[in-house]
Amino acid sequence: MNQTEIRKDDHVRISLEEHIAAHHNYWDEVKLIHNALPEINKDEVNLSTTLFDKALGAPIIISGMTGGYAKGKRINEHLAVAAEHFQLGMGVGSQRSALENPALKDTYGVIKDYDIPLRFSNIGASQIVLWGPKNTLDHAHAMIDMIDAHVFIVCLNFLQEVFQPEGEAHAKGCLKAIADLADDLDIPLIVKESGAGISSEVACRLAQTKIAGIDVGGAGGTSFSAIEHYRAKQIHDKLHARGAKTFWDWGIPTPTSILEVGEATDWKLPIIATGGIRNGLDAAKALALGASAAGVARAFLEPATKGKNATMSGVEALIKELRAAMFLVGAGTLQKMKDIGVDLWI
Ligand SMILES: Cc1cc2nc3c(=O)[nH]c(=O)nc-3n(C[C@H](O)[C@H](O)[C@H](O)COP(=O)(O)O)c2cc1C
Repeated sequence: MNQTEIRKDDHVRISLEEHIAAHHNYWDEVKLIHNALPEINKDEVNLSTTLFDKALGAPIIISGMTGGYAKGKRINEHLAVAAEHFQLGMGVGSQRSALENPALKDTYGVIKDYDIPLRFSNIGASQIVLWGPKNTLDHAHAMIDMIDAHVFIVCLNFLQEVFQPEGEAHAKGCLKAIADLADDLDIPLIVKESGAGISSEVACRLAQTKIAGIDVGGAGGTSFSAIEHYRAKQIHDKLHARGAKTFWDWGIPTPTSILEVGEATDWKLPIIATGGIRNGLDAAKALALGASAAGVARAFLEPATKGKNATMSGVEALIKELRAAMFLVGAGTLQKMKDIGVDLWI
């Protein structure tokens, strides 16, 4: 395995073996207001939605995690089975590995074998800065072809890059690189944080480009600083291990980030709420705050390493909880969900 493959393997293994969540999950500070007279029937709750012009069975995105090393193919396949069955959106992890080693293409491309309504390509922001515009566009086309992507994600992960022993924190010129790529691509481009959230100020700058949406990727769930802490520790890199621990809980909470981004963009761009969604109730809270969909990573990773049935059961349980929450607040549709009251103690 080359360094990129080893890193992917490390990320998944550490996520499963260690406690890598932020110390506080901010979804606990958001309460939905119970409606004792919902005046709808539970079975009438309609979870279907349209995102980036694709019809989804429920407003849930399986967030990009893997591909790029042999075991990643199995994980992606199990997630793809569930994404097809429930007609959800699905992302893959950074596709850089397969650009470096084409033999790994099918660890991502396996998801093309399934009828998934919305597939997301993924690359880190530092990469597109390093590549420059011409190479970026060529690589982006290769990544899109690899999974037949409908939407292209540029992932902002500078917190991770800072404490990764081999990290590449190239942030200068990033906004321009995103703007150029959004201009040049013929599919929508969205920007995603990977655990530190997006502020209103950053959302305003992003909104001046042609991006089609924002995944706020806020704090409260998987902490990439925590993952890098364990990676640095295993190679006895005390400097990075210490810094990563110090910044374990760094970032804007996901619920706060939804509100910041929504208000800064006049709620005109679709917002995906990723970061700390553990169950369907957390997803319902994200929708009530104004997100168009909730993104889930770590909560689906564990069942996805077990098998297709475990993954299907995990996703089914989350959707059932989401339906229950919508019923109990009296919201029969996702549009109604945005109008219901939320108590916020952040
Ligand atoms: C093992 C693992 C690998 C990940 N790899 C990527 C990646 O390559 N690209 C990316 O944009 N996000 C990546 N993520 C971040 C997730 O997509 C998601 O934004 C983050 O884990 C927060 O969601 P969660 O709290 O539900 O886990 C990864 C997450 C995990 C757990």
